[in-house]
Amino acid sequence: MQAWASARRLEGARIGLVPTMGYLHDGHLSLIEQARRHADAVVVSLFVNPVQFGPNEDFEKYPRDEARDLARCEQAGASAVFLPPVATMYAPDASVFITEERLSAGLCGARRPGHFRGVCTVVAKLFNLTLPHVAVFGQKDYQQAAVIRRMVRDLNFPVEIVVAPIVREPDGLAMSSRNVYLSEVERRRALGLSRALQAAAACVAEGGAAAAAVRARMAEVIDAHALQLDYAEIVDAESLEPVAEARRGNVALIAAQCGRTRLIDNRIL
Ligand code: PAJ
Repeated sequence: MQAWASARRLEGARIGLVPTMGYLHDGHLSLIEQARRHADAVVVSLFVNPVQFGPNEDFEKYPRDEARDLARCEQAGASAVFLPPVATMYAPDASVFITEERLSAGLCGARRPGHFRGVCTVVAKLFNLTLPHVAVFGQKDYQQAAVIRRMVRDLNFPVEIVVAPIVREPDGLAMSSRNVYLSEVERRRALGLSRALQAAAACVAEGGAAAAAVRARMAEVIDAHALQLDYAEIVDAESLEPVAEARRGNVALIAAQCGRTRLIDNRIL
């Protein structure tokens, strides 16, 4: 991978990276499209990273379809696809990991201990392996994009980070590889997340509103869809610190359990 990327760099090409865990959907494809706008050669990585999954999470059953992913990457105009085996990525005695200590403290970081340590570590490795000038991430994982931006800033990675908008199903559900886990009934309930975010946006449409009231409104919508709320927060877009007064430009983030599937979504108010 490094030899290929070095050769492209010597030719003067700008390299774009789209890191994914595979089982590609239109959200992923939009990142590839975005990367093509920013780079000459686009690398898509398909790697289900064991280090970012907790012991009771879905690493083993995470959906995989390599043949379909390769076809979609080719169709989307990727120049290279990087599919490293786990054993190639992690030595059995690997002992260096990257931890971001501020932005990953709350939200998903608080519920998934070690998750962002795994994300930072694998993304740093992918940067070192694919030598990108630019890397594209999705707003779907708002906290992840913020953490990666911070890692790039604080560790001086020579990589430009681009964040692409959330791609949704026609009814509003944010696309996710994990949506495949949902039964028909759960698929309908899952709409509660985007609807709760819509309700949050409506609360601040005519000026500020107490964040506690907005959060309560989000919780109500989640309840009405028979979902189990994990968190509903209104945070500052940069620091990810909870705000007392919700205003335009803040971000509403939500996580909920839908049967056995944990779903997340967010919206810039
Ligand atoms: P994965 O969940 O496969 O997502 C890969 C990228 O696609 C992430 O940047 C994510 O934010 C983006 N994405 C997912 N759903 C999207 C949607 N509906 N619209 C727009 N973008 C979307 O995120 C990961 O993998 C991993 O943590 C990874 C960064 C690859 C590190 O292992």
